[in-house]
Amino acid sequence: MLISTASLAAPFPPLFPAIAAASSARGSLTDSPAIESRNVSYSITNRRGKFLPILKNCSISVPHGQLWMLLGPNGCGKSTLLKVLAGLLNPTEGKVHVNGSCSFVFQNPDHQVVMPTVEADVAFGLGKYDLSQDEVRSRVSNALKSVGMADYSQRPIQTLSGGQKQRVAIAGALAESCKVLLLDELTTFLDEYDQMGVVNAVKNCVAGPGDVAALWVTHRLEELKYANGAIYMEEGRIMIHGDASSVAKFLKDKQSEYIKHFNF
Ligand SMILES: Nc1ncnc2c1ncn2[C@@H]1O[C@H](COP(=O)(O)OP(=O)(O)OP(=O)(O)O)[C@@H](O)[C@H]1O
Ligand SMILES: [Mg+2]
Repeated sequence: MLISTASLAAPFPPLFPAIAAASSARGSLTDSPAIESRNVSYSITNRRGKFLPILKNCSISVPHGQLWMLLGPNGCGKSTLLKVLAGLLNPTEGKVHVNGSCSFVFQNPDHQVVMPTVEADVAFGLGKYDLSQDEVRSRVSNALKSVGMADYSQRPIQTLSGGQKQRVAIAGALAESCKVLLLDELTTFLDEYDQMGVVNAVKNCVAGPGDVAALWVTHRLEELKYANGAIYMEEGRIMIHGDASSVAKFLKDKQSEYIKHFNF
């Protein structure tokens, strides 16, 4: 099952002009980014009345038609930022703009596929729209093609691998014409083969005609090579935001400093 949200707010003037320019050079649908947060903070007050800041002044921008990775240590706020972007949590301060409808896909594939067969599951979310049967069939078939699951349309869901279930969940979002995919650690439980299936499915979606943007939370540094851009967080703050190779270099330098510091 997918959580879909509509467009949240009016777009802002460009936050990262170089990225906006690169995006429009690729022929994107609009000049404004697909996903944007401006100075977003999110805090909670715990049961003992203690104020806990979780996100601190987070500004990010992801262009249409691109796959971006969101990285950082456990507990740094990645899932919270994704939930704020999806509209599942309201920021305490700052603004969020998601250009087009968006879907949030969770880590555990068993929590998001609900129907008995692949085809029925992808069609499930279309029930809320007034669509003809032909339109439903065509959307389901195109979405399954995009994630490389066209041959599995009649398969019972319980016979699929974890990665295949993730791809069915992504197909559900595409069938609903989602423009933004927010993906939280999809590949954590997957073996290398399934991991590649999901990575390729998402790459295929962002490279397709829909100009879909994807923000992908991961711990796997090797997945950075499939990304257009990346964001690295620590303790609720954005530490670096840019093209994937600059972020990869930043993280490698950070790792070697750590190794030097502890004399490993
Ligand atoms: N409802 C809540 N109550 C108390 N603390 C919370 C709540 N939600 C999140 N937190 C805390 O906020 C911090 C960020 O959590 P979040 O789940 O966003 O981290 P994450 O980067 O996704 O971590 P992981 O890599 O382990 O998934 C953590 O310290 C977490 O314990
Ligand atoms: Mg998380």
